[in-house]
Amino acid sequence: MDPILKQVKRLTQLIYTLMLVLIFFSGLIYYFTYYPPAFQPEQEQTTAVWLPASLSDIPANEQGKLIREGYELILNTSRHIGPLAENATRRLAGNNLSCGNCHLDAGRKIGSGSFIGVANRFPQFRGRENKQGTLEERINGCMERSMNGHVLEEDSREMKAMIAYMEWLSKDVPDEIQTLYKGYKPVRLPEVKADTSMGRQLYEAKCMVCHGNDGRGQRIAGEVFTGYVYPPLGGEDTFNDGAGMNRVITAAEFIKSNMPYGATYDAPQVTDEEAYHIAAYINTFSRPSKSDKDKDFPDRTLKPVSTPYGPWADDFTPEQHKFGPFQPIMEYYQREYDLTKSK
Ligand code: HEC
Ligand code: HEC
Repeated sequence: MDPILKQVKRLTQLIYTLMLVLIFFSGLIYYFTYYPPAFQPEQEQTTAVWLPASLSDIPANEQGKLIREGYELILNTSRHIGPLAENATRRLAGNNLSCGNCHLDAGRKIGSGSFIGVANRFPQFRGRENKQGTLEERINGCMERSMNGHVLEEDSREMKAMIAYMEWLSKDVPDEIQTLYKGYKPVRLPEVKADTSMGRQLYEAKCMVCHGNDGRGQRIAGEVFTGYVYPPLGGEDTFNDGAGMNRVITAAEFIKSNMPYGATYDAPQVTDEEAYHIAAYINTFSRPSKSDKDKDFPDRTLKPVSTPYGPWADDFTPEQHKFGPFQPIMEYYQREYDLTKSK
């Protein structure tokens, strides 16, 4: 055969082969675009589709009525059991915060001490009291500290309503979802003392529009006080110095996952370091003082390292317990007491 003709024939064959290969792969791409593989790992699927119980799922019976009351109490605490309550004997909370100001989305938001699953974790051992504590006692811990008030009677309608709401939110929650919703998400703590002047600058840039100067919050407009648009973080109408939010590590964890408003644990708006300095700054604001704090944590070794009030089972300064660095204190408890501390 003519060598030129031979070359042409080879080239044509090559082109045909290339075209076939191209058609094959286009087919594959077309197929997977329109018929994507149905296979998905089971675990991922439950996490993706799992949603907290919604209000429309509340049963239409007496128990449902109680659950709704609990939900309402969490969102408008002051109006029912606080300073704005009509019945003066029910003014048990001492400030105008709502439980839902810290337990966001009425306790249904990840990274804000969610109530989803909480009823399944009590009774549990509590270091602050050094004994087994019930869910009622835990709620009263927030009543006396975060709400700067008095305990709510355990057999009261209000307590039963809040418990009913938490139990309803905790029903049939898969284990991995309970873990996801539980407590606060840890932050990586800088190994330096928190810098309150840096915290102040960050606060002014990212928080002050809503929470105001010195964290006094923003009241709902009107001649008579009816509550807050943005709750206070400082001053006489907020959590007291015995509250968890008054510890830098706890506050940093809350801020990282929730603030500025709209932030979430998986889409935070401040870095771990920023949250740490801001937390220290807001904990320089004046606030109500809890009495008898020295009786907290009868076993002093169980006290969180960032508890800003003594007595402690160590010789670190009050300043360091308040503003860090916390790692040396944690290492001390590991070494001396074989206790691993995260807060
Ligand atoms: C100023 C913020 C704040 C307010 C207001 C507040 N809490 Fe809390 N609450 C906390 C913090 C902080 C924790 C500890 C979270 C952690 O470390 O996991 C907590 C924990 C709890 C827990 C235990 C959660 C768990 O997973 O173990 C319950 C239940 C609870 N609060 C109920 C309430 C109720 C009910 C109210 C209103 C009467 C309330 N809280 C008001 C900050 C607050
Ligand atoms: C756009 C307004 C807005 C901004 C900005 C904002 N917050 Fe908040 N913050 C809120 C609202 C609203 C709540 C109450 C949430 C609820 O009830 O759902 C809240 C709650 C809080 C709480 C718990 C309740 C309390 O009164 O103690 C803290 C602490 C807090 N914010 C700190 C911060 C910090 C620190 C920043 C800046 C990094 C910040 N916030 C930025 C609106 C804001």
